[in-house]
Amino acid sequence: MRTKIKQLTAQNIGTTVTIKGWVRSVRNQKSFSFITINDGSTLSGLQIIYQATTPGYEETIKNLTTGASIAVTGTLVKSVGKEQAFELDAQSITIIGLCDPETYPLQKKHHSFEFLRTIAHLRPRTNTIGAVARVRNALSYATHQFFNERGFLYIHTPVITGSDCEGAGQMFNVSTLDINKPARTPAGTIDYAQDFFGRKTFLTVSGQLEGETYACALSDIYTFGPTFRAENSNTSRHLAEFWMIEPEMAFADLNDNMDCAEAYLKHVLRYVLNNCSEDMKFFDDYISKGVIAKIEHVVNAPFQRLTYTEGVKILQSASKKFEYPVSWGTDLQSEHERYLAEEYFKKPVILINYPAHIKAFYMRLNEDQKTVAAMDVLVPSVGEIIGGSQREDRIDLLVKRMEELKLPVEEYAWYLELRKYGSVPHAGFGLGLERLILFATGMENIRDVIPFPRYPKHAEF
Ligand code: 4AD
Ligand code: MG
Repeated sequence: MRTKIKQLTAQNIGTTVTIKGWVRSVRNQKSFSFITINDGSTLSGLQIIYQATTPGYEETIKNLTTGASIAVTGTLVKSVGKEQAFELDAQSITIIGLCDPETYPLQKKHHSFEFLRTIAHLRPRTNTIGAVARVRNALSYATHQFFNERGFLYIHTPVITGSDCEGAGQMFNVSTLDINKPARTPAGTIDYAQDFFGRKTFLTVSGQLEGETYACALSDIYTFGPTFRAENSNTSRHLAEFWMIEPEMAFADLNDNMDCAEAYLKHVLRYVLNNCSEDMKFFDDYISKGVIAKIEHVVNAPFQRLTYTEGVKILQSASKKFEYPVSWGTDLQSEHERYLAEEYFKKPVILINYPAHIKAFYMRLNEDQKTVAAMDVLVPSVGEIIGGSQREDRIDLLVKRMEELKLPVEEYAWYLELRKYGSVPHAGFGLGLERLILFATGMENIRDVIPFPRYPKHAEF
């Protein structure tokens, strides 16, 4: 039976185990070889001692190259070195898959993240990308745990949709029309009535609108799925395909929303500190010095809550020179968000009550008639990690807002009916999983925290 390296404990010392994985390195000594093997279950892998007197040694050792997959059976022994607690005294090694040492691109030297992106099919075998994958998994698991423990139902909202939730027009079309010869209307425009769905459809930019329908029946729900934005942003914070977590709560206002977002972030980050300590130590040592202390601080200190108007005042009186000037009514840029969280408050900030005209149509209008019950959670080094709001639950105000924005009101009839049939105050938010991973690990570029990043001109693999 195969044992994963992560399962090994001091209790296994003296027993025989079989380990399967990929060779990371081989060091031949006079009478034996040191082999390190990794199976992905942990960062560190396992050291194997392979005595030259073992039957079949000569035959095997010449094919034991970095990248080869092997099965090793041996006795787990206490290690004499201080690098590891124990090592495996091999009785037999079987090579499962050879690896061509001449062409294998992952040699034992430093590779840049740019280079690793070109071999995205092999990069999970590196320490950093492996650690990112384990932290990503832990954050996803802790997300489901947090919401399930609080009675939120996991709802699968559609990937293909007819509506533009954020109203920003950054949608990928979904069509089976022949792009060289699309069906035309008598007027010469493209005839979407003849398309697969009989209408124009897109990849979703958010599951929120559909999520609201379930919240307005089941009270508390969340979605967690792939999300698409055709924005031509070549930044280290944007992807064309990312994963968004979107809770939605009925009978809830902006304060409930802020409380939920703060409790959620603290829960998942605490989970990673407690369950990914080896990977977090690696990030602290090699990727972002001090990241563990930073996350511990976030988990323990209350977030700073303030209004957009107060935030703008702070930015205007900052001695720091910004590339983009700020005044009441301008949308905040990443440099402003980061200044507030990183330099001014030195902790996560929840900014609320933004001017209506810089936010999406569905946000609830405040009594001042100028701002909406929006909230953005801003964190050090990443900037915006969460965007959310209390939703406009008054049908007349919602329709008025949609008309001002020239949205096709009739296409949102189903959404408006939630306000017609038993309307309730409700609120929710969206969190980009990859931004959360950037924050938790201290990784620099969002393209390195999703297995196969999609961004302008890049959809290989
Ligand atoms: O602020 P956004 O656009 O909000 C919404 O989509 C709402 N419908 C959410 C809701 O209330 N249910 O996006 C939410 C979050 C952002 O704060 C950011 O973390 C992430 O999604 N995000 C992206 N992450 C990676 N690449 C992109 N292009 C992203 N756009 C948004
Ligand atoms: Mg936003």
